[in-house]
Amino acid sequence: MTCMKIDGKAIALSIREEIAARVEALKEKGVTPGLAVILVGNDPASEIYVRNKGIACEKAGMRSEIIRLPEDTTQEALESEIARSNADGGIDGILVQLPLPKHLDERRALNAILPEKDVDGFHPVNAGKLLAGEKTVVPCTPKGCMRLLAEAGIETEGKEAVVIGRSNIVGKPMALLLTQANCTVTVCHTRTRDLKAHTRRADILVSSVGKAGFVTPDMVKPGAAVIDVGISRVDGKVCGDVAPEVAEVAGALTPVPGGVGPMTIAMLLENAVEAAECRA
Ligand code: GUN
Repeated sequence: MTCMKIDGKAIALSIREEIAARVEALKEKGVTPGLAVILVGNDPASEIYVRNKGIACEKAGMRSEIIRLPEDTTQEALESEIARSNADGGIDGILVQLPLPKHLDERRALNAILPEKDVDGFHPVNAGKLLAGEKTVVPCTPKGCMRLLAEAGIETEGKEAVVIGRSNIVGKPMALLLTQANCTVTVCHTRTRDLKAHTRRADILVSSVGKAGFVTPDMVKPGAAVIDVGISRVDGKVCGDVAPEVAEVAGALTPVPGGVGPMTIAMLLENAVEAAECRA
């Protein structure tokens, strides 16, 4: 079986070129899209993600404001930063990088973002619209996964899809999007019994676990499309959830790095530009 490598890096690059053109068009109308990213504390992985988001923004011609708050920031101080960005007419999108330090209430912080500036799609108004099938901002990582499937020409109609992970950031919205694309969807998680019995039925398998090598070849249906959302580090090397030997069984596979990661950033820029287009 030859396995197609789904090149997220290349697909994201071409999307970012389209976004740069949309940014130019907005600037001609006097609107520069602006994204505020709020980072609390010094988590090294979050530091890297936030820095990359800022660089991508600026490369697309957008304004990027990275707001760094100390580890011991209070809930009130965090919410007052969010309120400042809500009120800033030059900021179209606000992102609070997760996870937050344990003493902070994540839900309260996300609820404080104006729904029209919520480029992550995590506000309950936007999450509710997604559930109801209304047009809304779609969370970046699952939106990027759907775009990868489309770009790779993978048919979703009537297919069995299995999502491993039930987070608000990936698993739950991913399951909704696959359902909207007419897949029959199963969501598996840490309490699932006989995980392999489920995953082996999947024509489309999405793994969002965060454990290197978690998905092994015996868990994969021959010819399946496998989307690897996991990112972990083993001896300093970035690894996905999917063991490399899965390429001998799968029909298509996203690499890590260079698969879903670059798409998450491209979708963030797209969500921010859409918010700016609404302002214009
Ligand atoms: N942490 C990991 N993924 C994400 C994401 O998509 N958005 C935010 N805000 N934080 C994250």
